Amino acid sequence: MILSVASNIHYYEVIVEESPNFIEILASYPQAVYIIDENVWRIYAKTLLKSLPLESVIILPINENRKNLDTVQELYDKLVTLPTKRNLTIISFGGGILQDITGFTASTIYRGINWIFVPTTLLSQADSCIGSKTSLNYHKFKNIIGTFFPPTRIHIYIPFLQTQLASDFFSGFGEVVKLHLMGGQECYWEITKQINAILNRQTKPLLQIIWKSLQVKLSYMAGDEFDTGRRNLLNYGHDFGHALESTSNFVIPHGQAVTFGMIAANIVSQHRGTLDEKMEKEIYESLLLPSLVSRPTKAAIRSDAIIEAMKKDKKRTGDKLALIMMDRHFKFTRVNDLTFEEVTAALLVLEKRLI
Ligand SMILES: NC(=O)c1ccc[n+]([C@@H]2O[C@H](COP(=O)([O-])OP(=O)(O)OC[C@H]3O[C@@H](n4cnc5c(N)ncnc54)[C@H](O)[C@@H]3O)[C@@H](O)[C@H]2O)c1
Ligand SMILES: [Zn+2]
Repeated sequence: MILSVASNIHYYEVIVEESPNFIEILASYPQAVYIIDENVWRIYAKTLLKSLPLESVIILPINENRKNLDTVQELYDKLVTLPTKRNLTIISFGGGILQDITGFTASTIYRGINWIFVPTTLLSQADSCIGSKTSLNYHKFKNIIGTFFPPTRIHIYIPFLQTQLASDFFSGFGEVVKLHLMGGQECYWEITKQINAILNRQTKPLLQIIWKSLQVKLSYMAGDEFDTGRRNLLNYGHDFGHALESTSNFVIPHGQAVTFGMIAANIVSQHRGTLDEKMEKEIYESLLLPSLVSRPTKAAIRSDAIIEAMKKDKKRTGDKLALIMMDRHFKFTRVNDLTFEEVTAALLVLEKRLI
């Protein structure tokens, strides 16, 4: 299965691979260096990745605190010693963190070199690999340094997901759920029917949801690759979600916080009458609740703390809050008139349901 993406930067392809043979082909790619997430290397060095030429492999220990310019400089230091310069190809294996680090490196060294990406987590396979964004953290500010630079090719191989930690898998699943609501009613039904098989990581349903997620994301990016309008709706669930991440001191994984954020946003829609009570409940019970494995504490959903955190949204205007909401037709809009009372009322419902 191949998805072609007409990016403004360069055309690229996402290939869903049925067999691991593509790794052997990548192993003899001319003038390539392989940058691999240390955990992925530890698990797969002797199996899936055994054909890679060791002399060209760079193993990178990663975590969110290493997604910064220092780590990029470590890579520059290694890459500039190689005989190949502008014709070098970076082939990277890992999740979203490795994607951000290697994408930024590839986009800046020699003003941009060829980059092929093999995502190994649910989030990177279903969502981040096609965003064109590379993001680094700067001191305590997350994702504020970056470029727009997609890989030239992305190879998705679903069996990598079998070894992902449950907490990381569920975090990625939050974004997948979001994309399936944003894809409309059919899309929502499809994922709901398969929810148990997906959570048990069966290959076929995983393939279906990954493929669908990429298509929905592309549809929202169409005409807005550089994120000045419609693409911003992909932040559905993130208004309350980001607030909860900070009030929980980042104990709740991102995608789980987004799931919580979608539940809260849907309750606001229901209170405003744009989403029927029955529909809100059905979406909650059939999809959002089964994908929620991390529960916020009572302290993390205190409405004054959540409101304080939501006030920090950079796109906010006036003295009210911003919220991306879905309606009964699965249409998404951003409102800028969310009141503090509405937040408190939604959190009260949530507290009764979840705690
Ligand atoms: N650039 C973008 O468009 C974009 C979009 C969304 C998120 N992100 C970023 O992505 C990051 C999160 O990425 P993620 O959820 O893919 O996870 P990750 O890259 O943070 O990896 C999570 C953990 O899983 C390990 N791992 C990776 N693949 C594995 C596998 N197959 N088996 C076992 N362990 C494996 C990693 O070593 C790491 O410890 C965040 O930094 C976020 O900001 C970027
Ligand atoms: Zn997100």
